[in-house]
Amino acid sequence: MFLYLSTWAEIERFLERSRTIVIPIGSNEQHGPTGLLGTDWMCPEIIAGEAQKKADILIAPTFNIGMAQHHLGFPGTISLRPSTFIAAIGDWTRSLAGHGFEKIFFLNGHGGNVASIEAAFSEIYCEASFARRQSGFALKLCNWWDLEGVDKLARDQFPTGHGMHATPSEIAVTQWAYPNSTKSADYSPQIAPSGPIREALDFRARHPDGRMGSDPAQATPEKGRQLVELAAQSLVRALDAFSREAMPG
Ligand code: NI
Repeated sequence: MFLYLSTWAEIERFLERSRTIVIPIGSNEQHGPTGLLGTDWMCPEIIAGEAQKKADILIAPTFNIGMAQHHLGFPGTISLRPSTFIAAIGDWTRSLAGHGFEKIFFLNGHGGNVASIEAAFSEIYCEASFARRQSGFALKLCNWWDLEGVDKLARDQFPTGHGMHATPSEIAVTQWAYPNSTKSADYSPQIAPSGPIREALDFRARHPDGRMGSDPAQATPEKGRQLVELAAQSLVRALDAFSREAMPG
């Protein structure tokens, strides 16, 4: 069930049977010569969309702009400052919590978001209206590749050239969901070099085509299908466990 395709009355009824909601969260940033700019928000959105076909879960609109300063050397990248990102996560959470959502699950698609999402959680937990709630109010961050079994499947699919950015696994997921937007290029070198992540000009100088350690040519829609199917099943289980979490004691 998608929030954006529901009415307020349907959400009111949903809240009578569940207090849990999923927010896909990612980034709009360059993903090498063949990866779509939306890759990091599309992957969690695709997986959440598949999961809601299998279970009675609610998916919020995708939070699709994140921490991408280091990719601003490439056209099309859009980035928030950490302070803006943290403030926006706070406002989304306050809105949803005000309706009665108690378990808010952020399914993340961009490693660069992790520190700021955790900081946002700390800010929210500091607020009096969220502190010491008897109900067990909780925020959870889960990267889609950390869903049970997904990392192992990706390693089996791509034993070499998986890398850290513009990876064949994330590109495979978008190829499966958006086959008409699949791109191709000659990669040189086939597996991109790795290196540190600093600011935007430094990043482009070190990683001229935008990839880090990856060989996206290994991506196929079929591998993407396998990843999405497994991730969606694992997400349903993770949400079930999160929903049942009670305050200890
Ligand atoms: Ni990515």
